[in-house]
Amino acid sequence: MSRCLVTGAAGFVGSHLCEALLARGHEVVGLDAFIPYYPRPVKEGNLAGLRARPRFTFHEADLRTAELAPLVAGCEVFFHLAAMPGLMKSWTDFPLYETCNIAGTQRLLESARTARLRQFIHISTSSVYGREATQGEEAPLQPFSPYGITKLAAEQLCRAYAANFGLPFTILRYFSVYGPRQRPDMGYHKLINDLFRGQTFTVFGDGEQTRSNTYVADAVAATLLAMEQRDAALGETFNIGGGEIVSLNRVIAMLEELTGQQARLERQPPRPGDQRHTAANTEKARRLLGYQPVTSLATGLRAQVAWQRTLA
Ligand SMILES: NC(=O)c1ccc[n+]([C@@H]2O[C@H](COP(=O)([O-])OP(=O)(O)OC[C@H]3O[C@@H](n4cnc5c(N)ncnc54)[C@H](O)[C@@H]3O)[C@@H](O)[C@H]2O)c1
Repeated sequence: MSRCLVTGAAGFVGSHLCEALLARGHEVVGLDAFIPYYPRPVKEGNLAGLRARPRFTFHEADLRTAELAPLVAGCEVFFHLAAMPGLMKSWTDFPLYETCNIAGTQRLLESARTARLRQFIHISTSSVYGREATQGEEAPLQPFSPYGITKLAAEQLCRAYAANFGLPFTILRYFSVYGPRQRPDMGYHKLINDLFRGQTFTVFGDGEQTRSNTYVADAVAATLLAMEQRDAALGETFNIGGGEIVSLNRVIAMLEELTGQQARLERQPPRPGDQRHTAANTEKARRLLGYQPVTSLATGLRAQVAWQRTLA
């Protein structure tokens, strides 16, 4: 059993990862700064089931400023999920993305040099590819949003620390994660909320843009595999996506059926930085890690709708 650090532990994916690690008997040190991109009470809710667990310790700390060495001491595996996510805000608040995603990562990498580290698992995104993300990991990296650019810089920092100081890293590029606790700024969360309240949902573009939807438990399973298949994962970068690639229009129809409500839609032009098609090529993760997403989109959306019903 390992002592694991999870940064971004109060976030959507991070909180699920902490629960999965504890369920496997690992010890977890969670770290989060409660960046108010979405409300702190939502993040406290994500942590609610974790706080009292005996093998879980939580530090409220900002990667940009905290003295990290004492917080990460003794952690053998780092899972680095803390970041400023979301495309749109990255156009208007670049310093926040630059500092959290680049400077924060660099400070964590420095702290890793003094820790007894077995593996640094860095969570990246399909946004590093750019407008289309439909090929394997060797595809050109042409991010076209400030968010994607900061996430690519963070990846490159991991590679630089590996080349110069032997950092044992693995990079996972998640594709559109959804499910219970999905961030309130994300499309499906907003759409379900609008369906419940009879509010208008804005579709940017023609709705035919596609996403490689990844159920949160599948993203977490891939993240655990990166640790469990360490020898195969070291020094590698993997796409992590779900198996079902569907258009936004199709998801709207599925959610109408699941909620029993008809969507009120407003159409707007695509926003700068919006990806057109993402279709995770996960052949490498399947081959080297044994990754196999198991949750159908219908099952995953049903779980997210059920969770959001409890918030309404
Ligand atoms: N959700 C997705 O669809 C998706 C897709 C691709 C990649 N990712 C990546 O997965 C990771 C988790 O995303 P999420 O959707 O769970 O986001 P989230 O916002 O719910 O979680 C991120 C957490 O990081 C914390 N954080 C940010 N900056 C910090 C700092 N300087 N110090 C300490 N904590 C800080 C935030 O407070 C937040 O709780 C991110 O790295 C994101 O880029 C997510």
